[in-house]
Amino acid sequence: MREEIRKIQELMEQEAYITDPAIATSVYLAMALKKPLLIEGHAGVGKTEIAKVLARALDTNLIRLQCYEGLDATTALYEWNYSKQLLRIKLEEASAHSAEEKEAVIFSEPFLLKRPLLQAITQDGQAPVLLIDEVDRSDEEFESFLLEVLSDFQVTIPEIGTIKATHHPYVVLTSNRSRELSDALRRRCLYLWIDYPSLAKELKIVQTKVPGINEQLAGEIARFMQTVRKMKLNKVPGVAETLDWATALVALHASYLGDEVVRETLGCFVKDKGDLRKFQAELDAGHLAGMITPLP
Ligand SMILES: Nc1ncnc2c1ncn2[C@@H]1O[C@H](COP(=O)(O)OP(=O)(O)OP(=O)(O)O)[C@@H](O)[C@H]1O
Ligand SMILES: [Mg+2]
Repeated sequence: MREEIRKIQELMEQEAYITDPAIATSVYLAMALKKPLLIEGHAGVGKTEIAKVLARALDTNLIRLQCYEGLDATTALYEWNYSKQLLRIKLEEASAHSAEEKEAVIFSEPFLLKRPLLQAITQDGQAPVLLIDEVDRSDEEFESFLLEVLSDFQVTIPEIGTIKATHHPYVVLTSNRSRELSDALRRRCLYLWIDYPSLAKELKIVQTKVPGINEQLAGEIARFMQTVRKMKLNKVPGVAETLDWATALVALHASYLGDEVVRETLGCFVKDKGDLRKFQAELDAGHLAGMITPLP
Protein backbone atom coordinates (compact mmCIF):
# COMPACT_ATOMS: atom_id res chain seq x y z
CA MET A 1 0.00 0.00 0.00
CA ARG A 2 1.18 3.51 -0.74
CA GLU A 3 2.63 5.45 2.13
CA GLU A 4 0.08 8.30 1.82
CA ILE A 5 -2.84 5.91 1.96
CA ARG A 6 -1.42 3.96 4.85
CA LYS A 7 -1.09 7.26 6.68
CA ILE A 8 -4.78 8.14 6.12
CA GLN A 9 -5.73 4.68 7.35
CA GLU A 10 -3.63 5.23 10.46
CA LEU A 11 -5.06 8.70 11.08
CA MET A 12 -8.62 7.43 10.83
CA GLU A 13 -7.95 4.42 13.02
CA GLN A 14 -6.54 6.75 15.66
CA GLU A 15 -10.01 8.29 15.62
CA ALA A 16 -11.56 4.81 16.03
CA TYR A 17 -12.65 4.43 12.40
CA ILE A 18 -11.62 1.14 10.85
CA THR A 19 -10.90 1.57 7.15
CA ASP A 20 -9.98 -0.69 4.29
CA PRO A 21 -7.77 0.24 1.34
CA ALA A 22 -10.78 1.33 -0.78
CA ILE A 23 -12.00 3.79 1.84
CA ALA A 24 -8.56 5.14 2.68
CA THR A 25 -7.73 5.61 -1.01
CA SER A 26 -10.96 7.51 -1.69
CA VAL A 27 -10.47 9.78 1.30
CA TYR A 28 -6.88 10.43 0.29
CA LEU A 29 -7.78 11.22 -3.32
CA ALA A 30 -10.68 13.47 -2.35
CA MET A 31 -8.27 15.50 -0.25
CA ALA A 32 -5.42 15.49 -2.76
CA LEU A 33 -7.62 16.36 -5.76
CA LYS A 34 -9.82 18.71 -3.70
CA LYS A 35 -12.93 16.96 -4.96
CA PRO A 36 -16.15 16.28 -3.09
CA LEU A 37 -16.47 12.66 -1.97
CA LEU A 38 -19.85 11.06 -2.60
CA ILE A 39 -20.40 8.06 -0.33
CA GLU A 40 -23.20 5.60 -0.93
CA GLY A 41 -24.08 2.46 0.98
CA HIS A 42 -26.78 0.77 3.04
CA ALA A 43 -27.99 2.18 6.34
CA GLY A 44 -25.53 2.17 9.21
CA VAL A 45 -22.36 1.16 7.37
CA GLY A 46 -20.32 4.19 8.44
CA LYS A 47 -20.93 6.85 5.77
CA THR A 48 -21.67 9.84 8.00
CA GLU A 49 -18.97 8.82 10.44
CA ILE A 50 -16.27 9.32 7.78
CA ALA A 51 -16.91 13.07 7.70
CA LYS A 52 -16.90 13.33 11.49
CA VAL A 53 -13.69 11.33 11.78
CA LEU A 54 -12.04 13.33 9.00
CA ALA A 55 -12.77 16.59 10.80
CA ARG A 56 -11.29 15.24 14.02
CA ALA A 57 -8.24 13.79 12.25
CA LEU A 58 -7.58 17.12 10.49
CA ASP A 59 -8.37 19.00 13.70
CA THR A 60 -10.87 21.21 11.93
CA ASN A 61 -14.55 22.12 12.12
CA LEU A 62 -17.32 19.88 10.92
CA ILE A 63 -20.17 21.79 9.28
CA ARG A 64 -23.20 19.63 8.65
CA LEU A 65 -26.04 20.18 6.25
CA GLN A 66 -28.74 17.60 6.92
CA CYS A 67 -30.86 17.19 3.79
CA TYR A 68 -34.59 16.52 3.74
CA GLU A 69 -37.48 16.81 1.35
CA GLY A 70 -38.31 20.45 0.78
CA LEU A 71 -34.92 21.76 1.86
CA ASP A 72 -34.36 24.93 -0.13
CA ALA A 73 -31.43 27.12 -1.03
CA THR A 74 -32.17 29.79 1.58
CA THR A 75 -32.24 27.35 4.46
CA ALA A 76 -28.95 25.89 3.30
CA LEU A 77 -27.22 29.17 2.52
CA TYR A 78 -28.35 32.22 4.48
CA GLU A 79 -31.33 34.06 5.86
CA TRP A 80 -31.72 37.65 6.98
CA ASN A 81 -32.02 38.11 10.70
CA TYR A 82 -35.43 39.79 10.64
CA SER A 83 -35.74 40.47 14.34
CA LYS A 84 -32.31 42.11 14.43
CA GLN A 85 -33.22 44.14 11.34
CA LEU A 86 -36.51 45.25 12.91
CA LEU A 87 -34.81 46.24 16.10
CA ARG A 88 -32.31 48.35 14.16
CA ILE A 89 -35.10 50.03 12.19
CA LYS A 90 -36.84 50.93 15.43
CA LEU A 91 -33.66 52.28 16.99
CA GLU A 92 -32.92 54.34 13.90
CA GLU A 93 -36.43 55.75 13.51
CA ALA A 94 -35.43 59.20 14.68
CA SER A 95 -32.02 59.27 12.96
CA ALA A 96 -31.19 61.65 10.16
CA HIS A 97 -29.94 58.91 7.77
CA SER A 98 -31.72 58.50 4.46
CA ALA A 99 -33.85 55.44 3.74
CA GLU A 100 -31.14 54.10 1.38
CA GLU A 101 -28.48 54.46 4.04
CA LYS A 102 -30.63 52.68 6.58
CA GLU A 103 -31.33 49.91 4.11
CA ALA A 104 -27.66 49.45 3.35
CA VAL A 105 -27.01 48.91 7.04
CA ILE A 106 -29.66 46.29 7.67
CA PHE A 107 -28.75 44.35 4.54
CA SER A 108 -25.09 43.94 5.44
CA GLU A 109 -23.10 41.04 6.80
CA PRO A 110 -23.79 41.56 10.53
CA PHE A 111 -27.50 41.01 9.77
CA LEU A 112 -26.91 37.80 7.90
CA LEU A 113 -27.67 34.43 9.47
CA LYS A 114 -25.16 32.08 7.90
CA ARG A 115 -26.50 28.62 7.20
CA PRO A 116 -24.15 25.64 6.64
CA LEU A 117 -23.11 26.26 3.02
CA LEU A 118 -22.25 29.91 3.59
CA GLN A 119 -20.56 29.04 6.87
CA ALA A 120 -18.37 26.52 5.08
CA ILE A 121 -17.44 29.00 2.38
CA THR A 122 -16.67 31.91 4.70
CA GLN A 123 -14.88 30.12 7.51
CA ASP A 124 -11.58 31.78 8.43
CA GLY A 125 -8.46 29.82 9.17
CA GLN A 126 -8.36 26.14 8.33
CA ALA A 127 -10.65 24.60 5.70
CA PRO A 128 -13.59 22.88 7.42
CA VAL A 129 -15.16 19.55 6.55
CA LEU A 130 -18.58 20.15 4.99
CA LEU A 131 -20.89 17.16 5.41
CA ILE A 132 -23.92 17.18 3.12
CA ASP A 133 -25.74 14.30 4.71
CA GLU A 134 -28.41 12.17 3.00
CA VAL A 135 -28.42 14.27 -0.15
CA ASP A 136 -30.83 11.78 -1.79
CA ARG A 137 -33.58 13.10 0.49
CA SER A 138 -33.43 16.59 -1.00
CA ASP A 139 -35.28 17.52 -4.20
CA GLU A 140 -33.69 17.56 -7.64
CA GLU A 141 -33.97 21.32 -7.70
CA PHE A 142 -31.86 21.59 -4.59
CA GLU A 143 -29.35 19.20 -6.10
CA SER A 144 -28.80 21.53 -9.07
CA PHE A 145 -28.28 24.43 -6.72
CA LEU A 146 -25.78 22.36 -4.77
CA LEU A 147 -23.95 21.58 -7.96
CA GLU A 148 -23.48 25.28 -8.59
CA VAL A 149 -22.08 25.89 -5.13
CA LEU A 150 -19.78 22.89 -5.38
CA SER A 151 -18.34 24.00 -8.72
CA ASP A 152 -17.56 27.61 -7.86
CA PHE A 153 -17.42 27.72 -4.07
CA GLN A 154 -18.87 31.15 -4.30
CA VAL A 155 -22.22 32.59 -3.46
CA THR A 156 -23.92 35.73 -4.66
CA ILE A 157 -26.10 37.62 -2.23
CA PRO A 158 -27.92 40.35 -4.18
CA GLU A 159 -27.65 42.96 -1.42
CA ILE A 160 -24.00 42.28 -0.62
CA GLY A 161 -22.31 40.87 -3.70
CA THR A 162 -20.32 37.73 -4.40
CA ILE A 163 -18.61 35.93 -1.55
CA LYS A 164 -15.82 33.60 -2.60
CA ALA A 165 -14.37 30.83 -0.46
CA THR A 166 -10.98 31.59 1.03
CA HIS A 167 -10.29 27.87 1.41
CA HIS A 168 -12.21 25.14 -0.34
CA PRO A 169 -13.86 23.02 2.33
CA TYR A 170 -13.40 19.24 2.28
CA VAL A 171 -16.80 18.09 1.09
CA VAL A 172 -18.39 14.74 1.95
CA LEU A 173 -21.84 13.86 0.57
CA THR A 174 -23.70 10.78 1.70
CA SER A 175 -26.65 9.00 0.14
CA ASN A 176 -28.79 5.99 0.99
CA ARG A 177 -29.92 5.73 -2.62
CA SER A 178 -33.57 6.46 -1.88
CA ARG A 179 -33.46 8.11 -5.30
CA GLU A 180 -30.86 8.26 -8.06
CA LEU A 181 -28.64 11.31 -7.95
CA SER A 182 -28.04 13.20 -11.17
CA ASP A 183 -25.14 12.31 -13.45
CA ALA A 184 -23.95 15.90 -13.19
CA LEU A 185 -23.52 15.62 -9.42
CA ARG A 186 -21.86 12.23 -9.70
CA ARG A 187 -19.44 13.55 -12.29
CA ARG A 188 -18.38 16.35 -10.00
CA CYS A 189 -17.53 13.93 -7.16
CA LEU A 190 -15.26 11.03 -6.37
CA TYR A 191 -17.38 8.01 -5.61
CA LEU A 192 -17.13 5.55 -2.75
CA TRP A 193 -19.45 2.62 -2.15
CA ILE A 194 -19.30 1.20 1.37
CA ASP A 195 -20.47 -2.36 1.65
CA TYR A 196 -21.29 -4.27 4.80
CA PRO A 197 -18.00 -5.02 6.53
CA SER A 198 -16.10 -8.28 6.20
CA LEU A 199 -15.89 -10.51 9.26
CA ALA A 200 -12.38 -9.29 10.10
CA LYS A 201 -13.35 -5.63 9.72
CA GLU A 202 -16.50 -5.95 11.80
CA LEU A 203 -14.60 -7.77 14.54
CA LYS A 204 -12.05 -4.97 14.63
CA ILE A 205 -14.82 -2.35 14.76
CA VAL A 206 -16.46 -4.11 17.71
CA GLN A 207 -13.18 -4.45 19.56
CA THR A 208 -12.36 -0.78 18.93
CA LYS A 209 -15.78 0.68 19.73
CA VAL A 210 -16.99 -1.47 22.61
CA PRO A 211 -14.64 -1.13 25.53
CA GLY A 212 -14.38 -4.07 27.87
CA ILE A 213 -15.78 -6.65 25.48
CA ASN A 214 -14.14 -10.05 25.73
CA GLU A 215 -12.55 -11.64 22.70
CA GLN A 216 -14.90 -14.63 22.55
CA LEU A 217 -18.07 -12.54 22.65
CA ALA A 218 -16.73 -10.05 20.09
CA GLY A 219 -15.89 -12.92 17.73
CA GLU A 220 -19.28 -14.58 18.17
CA ILE A 221 -21.13 -11.32 17.55
CA ALA A 222 -19.17 -10.57 14.38
CA ARG A 223 -19.74 -14.10 13.07
CA PHE A 224 -23.42 -13.96 13.97
CA MET A 225 -23.96 -10.68 12.12
CA GLN A 226 -22.37 -12.07 8.97
CA THR A 227 -24.94 -14.88 9.06
CA VAL A 228 -27.81 -12.53 9.86
CA ARG A 229 -27.05 -10.46 6.75
CA LYS A 230 -27.44 -13.56 4.60
CA MET A 231 -31.00 -14.13 5.87
CA LYS A 232 -33.65 -12.51 3.74
CA LEU A 233 -34.62 -9.72 6.12
CA ASN A 234 -36.64 -6.59 5.42
CA LYS A 235 -34.21 -4.43 7.38
CA VAL A 236 -30.68 -5.72 7.16
CA PRO A 237 -28.70 -4.58 10.22
CA GLY A 238 -25.66 -2.36 9.69
CA VAL A 239 -22.61 -1.75 11.83
CA ALA A 240 -24.63 0.62 14.01
CA GLU A 241 -26.86 -2.30 15.08
CA THR A 242 -23.86 -4.56 15.71
CA LEU A 243 -22.39 -1.94 18.02
CA ASP A 244 -25.70 -1.39 19.84
CA TRP A 245 -26.06 -5.10 20.36
CA ALA A 246 -22.48 -5.61 21.55
CA THR A 247 -22.85 -2.71 23.99
CA ALA A 248 -26.11 -4.15 25.32
CA LEU A 249 -24.56 -7.59 25.79
CA VAL A 250 -21.65 -6.12 27.72
CA ALA A 251 -24.10 -4.17 29.89
CA LEU A 252 -25.89 -7.46 30.62
CA HIS A 253 -22.56 -9.06 31.56
CA ALA A 254 -22.89 -11.69 28.83
CA SER A 255 -19.59 -13.36 28.05
CA TYR A 256 -20.86 -15.51 25.17
CA LEU A 257 -23.94 -15.68 22.91
CA GLY A 258 -26.42 -17.86 24.75
CA ASP A 259 -29.89 -18.71 23.45
CA GLU A 260 -31.63 -16.80 26.22
CA VAL A 261 -29.65 -13.59 25.99
CA VAL A 262 -29.94 -13.55 22.20
CA ARG A 263 -33.74 -13.79 22.46
CA GLU A 264 -33.80 -11.04 25.08
CA THR A 265 -31.75 -8.65 23.00
CA LEU A 266 -33.08 -9.30 19.48
CA GLY A 267 -34.52 -5.78 19.45
CA CYS A 268 -31.01 -4.33 19.32
CA PHE A 269 -30.49 -5.44 15.74
CA VAL A 270 -33.87 -6.63 14.42
CA LYS A 271 -35.95 -3.55 13.64
CA ASP A 272 -38.96 -4.98 11.85
CA LYS A 273 -41.95 -7.00 13.05
CA GLY A 274 -41.75 -9.58 10.25
CA ASP A 275 -38.02 -10.00 10.74
CA LEU A 276 -38.53 -10.52 14.46
CA ARG A 277 -41.01 -13.36 13.83
CA LYS A 278 -38.65 -14.91 11.32
CA PHE A 279 -35.81 -14.78 13.81
CA GLN A 280 -37.79 -16.32 16.61
CA ALA A 281 -38.81 -19.12 14.27
CA GLU A 282 -35.20 -19.71 13.28
CA LEU A 283 -34.17 -19.85 16.93
CA ASP A 284 -37.04 -22.22 17.77
CA ALA A 285 -36.10 -24.50 14.90
CA GLY A 286 -32.48 -24.50 16.04
CA HIS A 287 -31.22 -23.19 12.70
CA LEU A 288 -28.92 -20.76 14.44
CA ALA A 289 -27.64 -23.41 16.82
CA GLY A 290 -24.16 -23.36 15.34
CA MET A 291 -23.91 -19.67 16.13
CA ILE A 292 -25.08 -19.64 19.72
CA THR A 293 -24.66 -21.76 22.81
CA PRO A 294 -27.88 -23.64 23.61
CA LEU A 295 -29.47 -23.70 27.04
CA PRO A 296 -28.00 -26.41 29.27
N1 LIG B 1 -15.53 1.34 9.86
C1 LIG B 1 -16.03 1.74 11.03
N2 LIG B 1 -15.22 1.92 12.10
C2 LIG B 1 -15.72 2.32 13.27
N3 LIG B 1 -17.03 2.58 13.50
C3 LIG B 1 -17.87 2.40 12.49
C4 LIG B 1 -17.43 1.98 11.20
N4 LIG B 1 -18.49 1.89 10.37
C5 LIG B 1 -19.55 2.24 11.11
N5 LIG B 1 -19.20 2.56 12.37
C6 LIG B 1 -20.10 2.98 13.45
O1 LIG B 1 -21.42 2.59 13.09
C7 LIG B 1 -22.36 3.59 13.43
C8 LIG B 1 -23.14 3.99 12.19
O2 LIG B 1 -22.33 4.73 11.34
P1 LIG B 1 -22.90 5.94 10.48
O3 LIG B 1 -23.86 6.74 11.27
O4 LIG B 1 -21.74 6.63 9.88
O5 LIG B 1 -23.69 5.14 9.36
P2 LIG B 1 -24.39 5.67 8.04
O6 LIG B 1 -23.83 4.85 6.94
O7 LIG B 1 -24.25 7.14 7.96
O8 LIG B 1 -25.88 5.24 8.30
P3 LIG B 1 -27.26 5.93 7.80
O9 LIG B 1 -27.37 5.58 6.37
O10 LIG B 1 -28.29 5.24 8.64
O11 LIG B 1 -27.13 7.40 8.06
C9 LIG B 1 -21.59 4.73 14.06
O12 LIG B 1 -21.65 4.60 15.44
C10 LIG B 1 -20.18 4.50 13.58
O13 LIG B 1 -19.26 4.97 14.51
MG1 LIG C 1 -25.66 8.67 8.04
